Amino acid sequence: ARLLVLHGPNLNLLGTREPGIYGHATLADIDADLAERAAAAGHQLASFQSNAEHALVDRIQAAKGQVDFILINPAAFTHTSVAIRDALAAVAIPFIEVHLSNPHTREPFRHTSYFTDLAVGIVAGFGPLSYGLALAAAIRRLDT
Ligand code: DQA
Repeated sequence: ARLLVLHGPNLNLLGTREPGIYGHATLADIDADLAERAAAAGHQLASFQSNAEHALVDRIQAAKGQVDFILINPAAFTHTSVAIRDALAAVAIPFIEVHLSNPHTREPFRHTSYFTDLAVGIVAGFGPLSYGLALAAAIRRLDT
């Protein structure tokens, strides 16, 4: 199957961005690991990062009919973006919401998500491993 990983704003800075919260792995490390694991399981995986809300909306719209499953870390847009939420609802592609940190242990403004109630599931709090766990869950679902 075809998987798409979407990363929201500031995740391009992973590796140097608040490493105490987000860890030392770079986004390139994470994407390479995911692509390798997906390929080993017989699936295709592409990744896309943007700091721009419209670019993420455009990528989700372009995924319709082309992508079977999405992993998305909307980053700060988690807490603000009706537009990205609506795009995911419009294309009706199943998705898992991913976070490196556990937003519920952090500032109150991070406790709400525009995505969780539409998601198949959510993985948060495990650093870069959150993505790997989400991929394992996606593959399990695609294979059964
Ligand atoms: C994040 C959590 C968000 O609150 C934050 O704005 C991010 C990253 C995470 O992966 O832990 O940029 O989505």
